[in-house]
Amino acid sequence: MTQIDTLTDILKARYSCRAFRPDPVPRDVIDRIVRTARHVPSWCNAQPWQVTVTEGAATDRFRDALQAEVATATPKFDIDGPSGYSGVYAERRRACGWQLYDAVGVQKGDRAGSGAQMMRNFALFDAPHVAIVTSPAELGPYGAMDCGGFVTAFTLAAKALGVDTVAQAAVASYSDLVRRHFGLGDDRLVLCAISFGYGDADHPANGFRTDRAAPGDIIDWAT
Ligand SMILES: Cc1cc2nc3c(=O)[nH]c(=O)nc-3n(C[C@H](O)[C@H](O)[C@H](O)COP(=O)(O)O)c2cc1C
Repeated sequence: MTQIDTLTDILKARYSCRAFRPDPVPRDVIDRIVRTARHVPSWCNAQPWQVTVTEGAATDRFRDALQAEVATATPKFDIDGPSGYSGVYAERRRACGWQLYDAVGVQKGDRAGSGAQMMRNFALFDAPHVAIVTSPAELGPYGAMDCGGFVTAFTLAAKALGVDTVAQAAVASYSDLVRRHFGLGDDRLVLCAISFGYGDADHPANGFRTDRAAPGDIIDWAT
């Protein structure tokens, strides 16, 4: 098997896991994921990513604190969220949303059902671990961009080690709680979370895979 085949296999095997089994991931496996992911490039090799990783009761304490916050507080991101989704982006967003709702049996118009599924974000989909990804505020959007590469590499390294993941902007929408709970400084931007563990393969939420645009729709050749 060539390297590109191996890489493609890992990329295609990864999916956003939205139901986890409770089994913990050994610390040496988590260490190996980070050891691998840290090889991504970053502007000036600043390596702006820092991850706060929970284990055991610490995951449950954060899950509880997050759910309590969501019940009372107004969401606030550290970085600007999308101002809108239009055209093809709106279509893709709708399509992957409906794939999830279809998989878990939420019908069109069932606001309570879709809301309950959305709330699963704040239970971290029952994952045994979460990694909070932060970047120095002074590095601005490019720091966040570098961290995006790290997040992707983390998810791929995890998959290569049999660990499932889901990146979650939803958790970062309560950035004040995240900062308070983990004692993070105001000089860091809370970018996203990655909940991870071993996926429940039988759970309907894990029973679909999203599509990708064709290369021809992505590349604009300039000749
Ligand atoms: C930065 C980022 C933030 C995301 N935030 C969420 C989230 O808050 N909740 C969620 O269920 N999925 C979230 N996702 C997962 C995307 O919905 C998912 O990657 C996309 O639909 C493609 O599906 P796939 O990951 O299964 O290939 C996020 C992904 C990324 C990269």
